Amino acid sequence: MSGSTDQKVASLFQPIRIGELELANRIAMAPMTRRFSPGNIPGADVAGYYKSRAEGGVGLIITEGTFVNHPQANGYPRVPAFYGKALDGWKAVVDAVHSANGKIAPQIWHTGPARRPGIEPDKSLPGIGPSEVVQDGKIVVARASQQDIDNIVAAFAQAAADARRIGFDAVEIHGAHEYLIDAFLWEKTNTRNDEYGGSIENRTRLAGEVVQAVREAVGPKFPVIFRFSQWKQQDYHAKLAYSASDLARVLTPISNAGVDIFHASVRRFWAPEFESGPETLAAITKKITGKPVITVGSIGLGYEFRGVVSQDETDPFRNPNNVDEAAKQLSEGCFDIAAVGRALLSEPQWPNMIKEGKRSEIRQFTDAALESLII
Ligand SMILES: Cc1cc2nc3c(=O)[nH]c(=O)nc-3n(C[C@H](O)[C@H](O)[C@H](O)COP(=O)(O)O)c2cc1C
Repeated sequence: MSGSTDQKVASLFQPIRIGELELANRIAMAPMTRRFSPGNIPGADVAGYYKSRAEGGVGLIITEGTFVNHPQANGYPRVPAFYGKALDGWKAVVDAVHSANGKIAPQIWHTGPARRPGIEPDKSLPGIGPSEVVQDGKIVVARASQQDIDNIVAAFAQAAADARRIGFDAVEIHGAHEYLIDAFLWEKTNTRNDEYGGSIENRTRLAGEVVQAVREAVGPKFPVIFRFSQWKQQDYHAKLAYSASDLARVLTPISNAGVDIFHASVRRFWAPEFESGPETLAAITKKITGKPVITVGSIGLGYEFRGVVSQDETDPFRNPNNVDEAAKQLSEGCFDIAAVGRALLSEPQWPNMIKEGKRSEIRQFTDAALESLII
């Protein structure tokens, strides 16, 4: 890296220390499923892909979602597991990232009701969630029993312990986007009337249990990140909470269970979260929890996230200079770390180039970047 920093974005390049986690700057790589892990094992190409983002100046890499050791945790072909032989693959990823002075956290994941029968490893098994889903007379999502819940909580704890053991720098729990934990949080997918359903407090119980078990598994100092979202796969306008006070009821028990950093997943980082005021989800989360917060959503890109098929030149949200806005919001204390997703897929050197004011040379994201692991 050359010495001079573009002053408009200087705040993004300040180091930060959060407990044991020391980051060189405020740019994280957002977790992105890539489906380049045949047999559910990340190979040398995946290690090279993450290493090149560390070389490109990313302060904290958050891996693609990687599924915990529960038979119904996986929802997609060729995504990496986080147990058994896959851990050797992950250890090679960690070593590669560390060799480039990067920091890395796995995003541990249970896809829950997104899973359908026919998906590896045991194709006979349906998805699993708070409530049963029947399609064409067949159970495609089973209702989780207490035993299932206990097994799932234990699987998250084991994954977190393994993350620490094989040298990761932190762990991120995927509590967003309508996967298992979020499906319990959301009233539309959670119609239970036991202690895991009904009130916000009950719907938050599983998330709290997972965080607490993860915290106990990794000890008091290992950084635990919790990613959550208002938006859902089936509804980008969905909300877990319609006001900051309801959001506080969701986040406070999760925070108290042992989260160090919240990751507020939105599609446009600058968008006000509630009609009642201008504040973003990240800023509100910071106020509620008092903890460091990662923001995300169209940074350096100008296109909002719409699944993986994403680009539209006429998109009204196109806003190529929004990196300056992110830097400004960071310096105003609205968040602590900015996660960048798609822009980093096409340009591994994105942080270094932003730092050095080389924006015009950045390779812009197109959907073609999803088709291979650009190194
Ligand atoms: C190809 C792709 C895969 C994704 N996979 C995940 C995932 O595994 N876990 C997750 O929490 N979010 C996932 N996301 C969402 C991203 O983490 C991020 O929130 C989103 O892309 C918005 O950031 P961006 O506008 O900078 O791309 C994915 C996004 C993309 C484009």
